[in-house]
Amino acid sequence: MENIEALREEVLGEVGKAADLQALEDVRISALGKKGRITGLMKNLGQMDPDQRREFGQTLNAVKDTVAEAIETRKASLEDAALNARLIGERIDVTLPARADETAGRIHPISQTMDEIVSIFGEMGFALAEGPDVEDDFHNFTALNIPPEHPAREMQDTFYLPEQEDGSRLVLRTHTSPVQIRTMQSKTPPIRIIAPGRTYRSDSDMTHTPMFHQVEGLVIDKKTHMGHLKGCLLEFVKTYFELDDVPVRYRPSFFPFTEPSAEMDIGCSRKGGELKIGEGDDWLEILGCGMVHPRVLAACGLDPDEYQGFAFGMGIERIAMLKYGIPDLRTFFDTDLRWLKHYGFVPLDVPNMVRG
Ligand code: PHE
Repeated sequence: MENIEALREEVLGEVGKAADLQALEDVRISALGKKGRITGLMKNLGQMDPDQRREFGQTLNAVKDTVAEAIETRKASLEDAALNARLIGERIDVTLPARADETAGRIHPISQTMDEIVSIFGEMGFALAEGPDVEDDFHNFTALNIPPEHPAREMQDTFYLPEQEDGSRLVLRTHTSPVQIRTMQSKTPPIRIIAPGRTYRSDSDMTHTPMFHQVEGLVIDKKTHMGHLKGCLLEFVKTYFELDDVPVRYRPSFFPFTEPSAEMDIGCSRKGGELKIGEGDDWLEILGCGMVHPRVLAACGLDPDEYQGFAFGMGIERIAMLKYGIPDLRTFFDTDLRWLKHYGFVPLDVPNMVRG
């Protein structure tokens, strides 16, 4: 009996000292395994008389249970410790700054240019407006006073979606001008909006991509006139091109949705094949504009005798190319990372007259 007590203490001591799961397993085998010390004592039972055997057997079983339980407890705590050690060892330090060269993204020149335009007109009190890329005939054409026979409506110029049940077809908007319509339908003047976005035409060559970007401006109230149009656009080109002064001229033009209509040119020089904006005696066309046609106002439910205003629209790629010296339109959409690294902008690091 004394031996059993001593053996129990000895084994429990070893269990407590087992430093890892392997050491604990060794203790288990040496005590409870087939040839283990406690198992060995079981074999003595056969030589004892019945009373002795009962008492000895009970004690031995109790010792076996105690030891087995101690081993289980120790095992659980060693496993916990092992897991914690792994968690600490394999922890990823998410606070480490990224390696600048590998992960720094760039802002695409289109996004950059849109931001600049929106913030320049934002300073003048224009609100940002948006419309859907997939338009209906009314917003893209009819309400803009574009007649049924107009070439912009031709299948070869416009991307049409399959016919709907009522026979009409949705279109990928061919310009941002439908945002004018949506705005005048949903808001009462005074209106001042600037609306950049994607536009689509069935065109693909050196200077045309099927998807491109435009920005639309619209001002409607009771007294806005062509002088305001000229003032706003002059302010815009000066700020955008970062010039104290730019010669501008308005050439009479035609759009179904404006009357009168004009094309705005800015002064430039092309000496030696190099384009310089703001100097010289050459001209560069940059946008279309005019006073909103009375029929367009009426189509939106506004009384043309009460309200008037101006609109303009310009291609974003074109003015981005002019400002940032990007020679080829198609490269905008090639998704070439080397191009983006060269022409793109580092976020939060784009000093200009708008952002300081
Ligand atoms: N929507 C015209 C275009 O795509 C541009 C424009 C907009 C002209 C607004 C006048 C007024 O060419």
